[in-house]
Amino acid sequence: MYIENEAFKHYRLSSIMVIFGGTGDLTHRKLMPALYNLVYDQLLPEHFAIVSIGRKDMGLEQYRNEVFSSINKYSRNKIDETYWARLKELIYYLQIDFTDQSEYSKLKVFLENIDIKVQTQGNRVFYLAVAPEFFETIVQGLHKSDLAESKGTPWKRLVIEKPFGKDLVTARKLNNKLIEVFKENSIYRIDHYLGKEMIQNIMVLRFCNSVFESLWNNKFIDNIQIFLNEKDGVGTRGGYYESSGAMRDMVQNHIIQILSLVAMEPPVNLKTDAIRTEKLKVIQAIEEFTPELLRDNVVFGQYGKGVIDGTTVKAYREEEKVPENSRTETFVALKLHINNFRWAGTPFYIRTGKRLGAKSAEIVVQFKSLPKILYFKDQNVQEPNLLIIRIQPNVGVFFQFNTKDFSTYHDIFATKMETSYNSPTLGNTPEAYERLIFDVLRGDATLFSRWDEVEASWIFADRIIEFKYREQKRFNYPNYEAGTMGPVKAFELLARDGREWWNNIGG
Ligand code: BG6
Repeated sequence: MYIENEAFKHYRLSSIMVIFGGTGDLTHRKLMPALYNLVYDQLLPEHFAIVSIGRKDMGLEQYRNEVFSSINKYSRNKIDETYWARLKELIYYLQIDFTDQSEYSKLKVFLENIDIKVQTQGNRVFYLAVAPEFFETIVQGLHKSDLAESKGTPWKRLVIEKPFGKDLVTARKLNNKLIEVFKENSIYRIDHYLGKEMIQNIMVLRFCNSVFESLWNNKFIDNIQIFLNEKDGVGTRGGYYESSGAMRDMVQNHIIQILSLVAMEPPVNLKTDAIRTEKLKVIQAIEEFTPELLRDNVVFGQYGKGVIDGTTVKAYREEEKVPENSRTETFVALKLHINNFRWAGTPFYIRTGKRLGAKSAEIVVQFKSLPKILYFKDQNVQEPNLLIIRIQPNVGVFFQFNTKDFSTYHDIFATKMETSYNSPTLGNTPEAYERLIFDVLRGDATLFSRWDEVEASWIFADRIIEFKYREQKRFNYPNYEAGTMGPVKAFELLARDGREWWNNIGG
């Protein structure tokens, strides 16, 4: 975290974080380990409490023990008795059925008692770590019981996980319900990719380095590739994934957010709205896909069975809760253009998929090559300069450039300079949720999506999704084997332009 501890003192952090879905997977895998690491890094306020809400009948000790096991399993920092003791005393468990509106009065009394005990001053974070069909019910429950009411002090914030709607229409409907109760600047729509260190580093790399920013345009950049490749399949989430597919699961949110940070103009300052406004302009400038462009520039895929790391894995259609004739895409590759002065003519290639041969999330900026007048005259290949921003698994920045091979008279080879953030000297990097929870507490919404960004992303995604439904009979699924890098057509998409995907070039 780059913000100094001292700075926190100026924020009114004292608060209660209420987690709906306190016994769920997200809470155990991500939220509690993140809260533990915030305790570890001494980034939680002095007057703070966590109220986990669940339907299960269990005592506080049992709940705390379960949280302990999860932290033990998932936290990046090992459990230290002192920090665990501190976190443990912050945790409360309340058994209510949040679909029953009459239960919210119990919650209200419970929170008021904690306010008195812990001096949390009435400030609240309501974290909806539940399935999206419950969002409206919970927000209504909070509203009717006056739990959500906020006239500035004490503050009330709503944190909402994706999916934010399943298309533009449902997203608008949901948003209208939320803004009846919470103000836009009190709604924190999570896109956990924005909490990743390297995503935050995009702006620093671009706007703190004259060498990059002065070349960051269509005159010097040949193409930009963004890929979020996964080795995992859908696991137990087949039910959810069937209603989502890769477009809704990864492209509409994570990829569009990354794209907007990579392509945006410098904001006038670093305030939340200045940054979000520049990001929005990028999404709005994405060239509209005509039917021809959709056919030529979008590739869908679905994995068949295959081998990953020596283990045979099932086809998507054999996964739990997935019908055997499913037409859901587990892979998308597409080429798009951003029609503004900075980017016109420079293609952006995007790819994401499950059960691919490599797990890697990267942004690769390929600079234009020089004319082969002095060097590379007789060679077909001139390795281009590449700037590789590696989001995961290893976090780092790499720059590829050409240099002389010292052992020969004239050979030239491409080498890489690298900064790797997972090195022992720099320690392990914070998890996305640590940063995001911390930002909610201090009221900084920069790393969350504003409604108009979500809306513009749906307008973009819906066109592609509608095309998918219209033409899905054409897709011959499964069309890639698990353990490969996707369908042949995804390779052809770049080959047609005389280019190739830069897979794992960061090493
Ligand atoms: C989630 C998607 O938003 O992101 C998952 O729903 C996906 O399907 C996950 O696996 C990837 O996140 P990460 O942080 O593991 O790269």
